[in-house]
Amino acid sequence: MCALDVRPAVATERLLLRGPVAADVNPIAELANDLGVAGMTSNLPYPYRQADAEAFVGGVARMNPRTDAVFAVEHREFGLIGMLGFHEREPRRQELGYWLGRPFWGRGYATEAVTAALRWARGDWRKNVVWAGHFADNRASGQVLCKAGFLYTGDVEPRVSAGRGGAPAPTRMMVWLA
Ligand SMILES: CC(C)(COP(=O)(O)OP(=O)(O)OC[C@H]1O[C@@H](n2cnc3c(N)ncnc32)[C@H](O)[C@@H]1OP(=O)(O)O)[C@@H](O)C(=O)NCCC(=O)NCCS
Repeated sequence: MCALDVRPAVATERLLLRGPVAADVNPIAELANDLGVAGMTSNLPYPYRQADAEAFVGGVARMNPRTDAVFAVEHREFGLIGMLGFHEREPRRQELGYWLGRPFWGRGYATEAVTAALRWARGDWRKNVVWAGHFADNRASGQVLCKAGFLYTGDVEPRVSAGRGGAPAPTRMMVWLA
């Protein structure tokens, strides 16, 4: 495994957002192997296996830090609770994605993590625009994005969910301006 920067990049009251490390593989594999998690994301397959987590953490080191950024979302007491990342799906168009393990839903952690990540994206990463999309049936994620300051663009794109078996799902697009 390549050496990654494990210094906390962003700290909030309850969370640390930091670069993923090899020790994160097990908790990622455990928490992401849930159709309620994987089926709401574009990229997570279901079932989600240990090898998927290993490939994901290994791949982070090969990302271009100018275009992509991935954080483990670590709770100060409970350890890793999920992941959050910005990915350049199209040139100069960073898209935010995230998931939390089911035991950690409903306590405001996603809103706290996304808000902090946007602060980092604006202040440290110098990005003025961030895009996001959520499946139309994912009201929770829509709420998180609205609370973090995203606005609906009005566009609805069909997007494939690996966790749903590859069927395209209507995806409501949102944008955040620094
Ligand atoms: C979406 C997800 C990240 C939300 O995480 P969370 O920590 O539970 O979200 P928060 O606690 O910050 O909740 C934010 C808002 O959403 C609301 N909300 C939470 N679950 C909800 C649901 N099932 N339906 C409607 N609203 C919901 C909350 O009430 C809260 O609003 P409020 O503060 O006004 O009450 C989490 O459910 C998850 O990881 N889901 C699976 C993966 C996923 O959907 N990723 C996003 C892909 S776009």
